[in-house]
Amino acid sequence: MCGIVGYVGQKQALEVVVAGLRRLEYRGYDSAGVAVISEGVLEVRKRAGKLANLEELLGADPLPQSTTGIGHTRWATHGGPTDHNAHPHVSEDTRIAVIHNGIIENFAELRDELRAAGVQLTSETDTEVAAHMLAREVPIVDGDLPEAMRRVCRRLEGAFTLVALDREQPDLVVAARRNSPLVVGVGEGENFLASDVAAFVEHTRHALELGQDQVVVLTPDDITVTDFAGEPVEVRPFTVDWDASAAEKGGYDLFMLKEIAEQPKAVADALRGRISKDHRIQLDETDLDESVLRSITKVVVIACGTAAHAGMVAKYAIEHWTRLPVEVELASEFRYRDPIVGPDSLVIAISQSGETMDTLMALRHAKEQGARTLAICNTVGSTIPRESDAVLYTYAGPEIAVASTKAFLTQIIAAYLVGLYLAQVRGLMFEDEIRAVLDELDEMPSKVDLVLDTTEHVRELARELADSTSVLFLGRHVGFPVALEGALKLKELAYMHAEGFPAGELKHGPIALIEEGVPVIVIVPSPRGRAVLHDKIVSNIQEVRARGALVIAIAEEGDEAIAPFADHIVRVPAVPTLMQPLVSTVPLQVFACEMATAKGHDVDQPRNLAKSVTVE
Ligand code: AGP
Repeated sequence: MCGIVGYVGQKQALEVVVAGLRRLEYRGYDSAGVAVISEGVLEVRKRAGKLANLEELLGADPLPQSTTGIGHTRWATHGGPTDHNAHPHVSEDTRIAVIHNGIIENFAELRDELRAAGVQLTSETDTEVAAHMLAREVPIVDGDLPEAMRRVCRRLEGAFTLVALDREQPDLVVAARRNSPLVVGVGEGENFLASDVAAFVEHTRHALELGQDQVVVLTPDDITVTDFAGEPVEVRPFTVDWDASAAEKGGYDLFMLKEIAEQPKAVADALRGRISKDHRIQLDETDLDESVLRSITKVVVIACGTAAHAGMVAKYAIEHWTRLPVEVELASEFRYRDPIVGPDSLVIAISQSGETMDTLMALRHAKEQGARTLAICNTVGSTIPRESDAVLYTYAGPEIAVASTKAFLTQIIAAYLVGLYLAQVRGLMFEDEIRAVLDELDEMPSKVDLVLDTTEHVRELARELADSTSVLFLGRHVGFPVALEGALKLKELAYMHAEGFPAGELKHGPIALIEEGVPVIVIVPSPRGRAVLHDKIVSNIQEVRARGALVIAIAEEGDEAIAPFADHIVRVPAVPTLMQPLVSTVPLQVFACEMATAKGHDVDQPRNLAKSVTVE
């Protein structure tokens, strides 16, 4: 949440910073603001609402030229989304400007302290206290902004990335991080920092991963990193393995449409290099210790939202292949309920961003209990993989739209690979059984491609049903998490009531929601898989149809038995049961995207949401 950009170098800072903010706007769009230093003066422009509002302001009231600047796009926590609460925040003496991502948990105490010292606070944010505290520390340490930052950080509780400018030191940007993302871009005669490499990848693909509780100091020619005590620390360099074009819309109207279309490639990339020529799974890159995998007695998946749905899908597969119990826990609940995890548990944290605070906190709790941890993550160098014992990257490429699409499919692939690897290492499946599943996985990119070729019908349906007040989703077995995912997509994009249910559970209460004309989207299990599941879902369809529901079946090609029971059928390729989520989710993504478009909503940046949720 909140996007942060900093630049110091030879270019016009404002251009670099605003372009960076454009790429980070997915992280929050309640307000945007920039600050530059020009001729010993800190110049700030900020505006509530999307970046476009700030750009309009910059057109009307331009900033002077400067080669040092910072910028922020906000997802509001403390204080409403107003001009006043927008970042940067400036100290009373206008010497220091600060931007912030995270929550300063002891801000009320610090604010009272500042007030008692006569400081006038002008916003409702927690961030503003950091600006005033820095301004008070800087003279004490003879203008040493990095030292002032360290002194302030030692007093802060909570999660923060803080970036500061000092009008007296025009070629300097100082930043600090605790529990909030921050990466450094290494240029020649220029350096960058940002919440996400997307902000600077058009300038450099050389980056540095910062650790916890570190302060980084940027000048055009130098980068130094210390801990909060001032001791130098080692940082890990990495190279961004995608270029700026991957974070562009590439001819699509929406990032979400582009990312839906990228799914065949994303699935192929998630599999690439992980299956050997002799059809064995090779996950050497992960650092998964085979003796640990042999010793564990259960698997616990921790994740949020879409990532949790991917975990729920994986549970069916991993339990089937390994006979190990798999629990899937919403990360936000995990550490608050005294979960039973220990050295015999493999805890898998699934996260696209690798920064989700709920998942990170759950991961840390699991580690404290002695659990072995594995991250399934898309963002290289992010916090969750860095803090896990092992990591399996999904390699889906940057996902910019707030609604997760390709991340979901690739998380399923990665979790399946882990499940098969467990089975391989523990000797639980015959080699030909593993090979059969790998062959099925290998076919998935082309199967997903087939779904994408046939989305017109689902688009039409979405437009026809755009005035519905509620849509229900039903599934059984792996179709149940798919139903949850379809409902989540519709809620977050179309802002409508949508619920996913296990089809068999409907009669235990939710069936009361059915009234004449309510659209019910049913993920129909393959009749070739476990026929009983197909038969049962037909009964469930009958139950809702008898009460007036409009039934839309997501059914495989060749399932003619479903025809008499559905008002509409959306066809997906016939695939084995455990592969069905990879094809049946895609029409639901398209449905939500099209319905939100029909309603005139901002699909890539739905209201109240942010892509990377870095608060608990
Ligand atoms: C789904 O469309 C959402 N964007 C959201 O549920 C997301 O999956 C969740 O916040 C977890 O994010 P993560 O994968 O980055 O941890």
